[in-house]
Amino acid sequence: MLTASVTVDPAFVVGPVRPRTFGSFVEHLGRCVYTGIYEPGHPSADADGFRGDVIDLLRELGVTTVRYPGGNFVSGYRWEDGVGPVDERPRRPDLAWHSTDPNLVGVDEFITWCRSAGVEPMMAVNLGTRGVQEALDLLEYCNGTGDTHFANLRRANGAQEPYGIRMWCLGNEMDGPWQIGHKTAEEYGRLAVETARAMRMMDPDLILVACGSSGSGMPTFGEWERIVLSESYEQVDMVSAHAYYYEEDGDLGSFLASAIDMDHFIESVAATADAVRASGKHDKRIAISFDEWNVWYQNRAESKVPEGDDWPVAPVLLEDKYNVADAVVVGNLLISLLRHTDRVHSASLAQLVNVIAPIMTEPGGRSWRQTTFHPFSLTARHAAGQVLRVAIDAPTYDTAKFGASPVLDAVATHDPETGDVVVFAVNRSTDEELDLTVDVRGAGELRLAEAITLAHPDPMRQATADDPDSVVPRANDSASVEGETVSVVLPPVSWAMLRLTRG
Ligand code: AHR
Repeated sequence: MLTASVTVDPAFVVGPVRPRTFGSFVEHLGRCVYTGIYEPGHPSADADGFRGDVIDLLRELGVTTVRYPGGNFVSGYRWEDGVGPVDERPRRPDLAWHSTDPNLVGVDEFITWCRSAGVEPMMAVNLGTRGVQEALDLLEYCNGTGDTHFANLRRANGAQEPYGIRMWCLGNEMDGPWQIGHKTAEEYGRLAVETARAMRMMDPDLILVACGSSGSGMPTFGEWERIVLSESYEQVDMVSAHAYYYEEDGDLGSFLASAIDMDHFIESVAATADAVRASGKHDKRIAISFDEWNVWYQNRAESKVPEGDDWPVAPVLLEDKYNVADAVVVGNLLISLLRHTDRVHSASLAQLVNVIAPIMTEPGGRSWRQTTFHPFSLTARHAAGQVLRVAIDAPTYDTAKFGASPVLDAVATHDPETGDVVVFAVNRSTDEELDLTVDVRGAGELRLAEAITLAHPDPMRQATADDPDSVVPRANDSASVEGETVSVVLPPVSWAMLRLTRG
């Protein structure tokens, strides 16, 4: 058996646990919107046509913010198509996903859904085929308070009060050659700063996110952030990061170490932003919005877009089925996001329903939780107070992608009000148990409230609609506390949560 230790001290604070770390993403893509969140006629649908079973699962998942309407979709989107009488809305080809959008759901419906679900909207504007004016029009429609055209149009469409949307993405993945309206860093930087400046003239309280890189492997990674932020530093609050390089392609060991890439990504963007801060003599710091992240099997049939004359409405697309190893990686990526809470101020698991998602639905039928649902839900529910920097002492294993990688990764949170400490950890070993000792210093007398692991003898085991419960988190009976020391045995390929409470 392998052995490792984690030392936790409430004095070593990284920053607050930020609710916006637990965001997600709804794009007009595949069945995310239609038969995902929206399905009039479904037995659980509310008066607005939104599936109640999905809203219940979203609440259980602990999602706080939802980014909308894309993704690649937004770069060809005309938001005006999605407002006003539904039977007068145009059907449009969606070039990003070779699909047809009937525009039954638009910004008004999305805000109605956000309110039912109790989540904060994060809106993206189209800087692919459109520009400053259309972004301003959408902002006026959503947040306008005066007696002006688009604010009045919103009122005429039934929403008297402004939506007050604070978080706005200035386009999507503009560094990607696949993006409609793809731009160089210089072109995008200029457009982003002009859009941001104008949007702030209308509403100074916005949180604006400039597009960063769509992956740390992009040839322009680093240089893109430097140029874009050099243009826009004073006008934006965050720079985005997207990461999907995480898939098991026959090398489970490297896959399980995927969070090393996320750590590198975040630290590189933070360093680049700080270099621009120094050379531009700026005061404020730029935060990171990690607004698309997940495991995604991009080369599988599930992600093959329709072709030729086939332009379907809500096709089955990107409906990856996740196994235990995928869930362990998702849990580890959340550990990485939390550990960087000083720089990552917002994040979105991409996506929420059906499309590389923790929640799956059947049209007219059941909804169910994928394996990846569980680490997200438990982390969102129990991470509280402050994130702590922990000291990890663990053996390493060799990986083709990352070299020698620690078998253990972990982060802890401490709630100064209750004194509770929660440790989130993964055992990345593909075949060995890990005997873990957690030394909690200076937190006072603690009792083990809960020790949970997500594991399975077959790490490739998936959850399905017919069998959603054979791979759920279970109590880990090996856990015990003595004084300030917790001991627990973590199975190979596992994610774990240890909750320690006072009294
Ligand atoms: O989430 C799926 C797609 O991945 C998004 O549309 C795009 O932004 C990214 O490349």
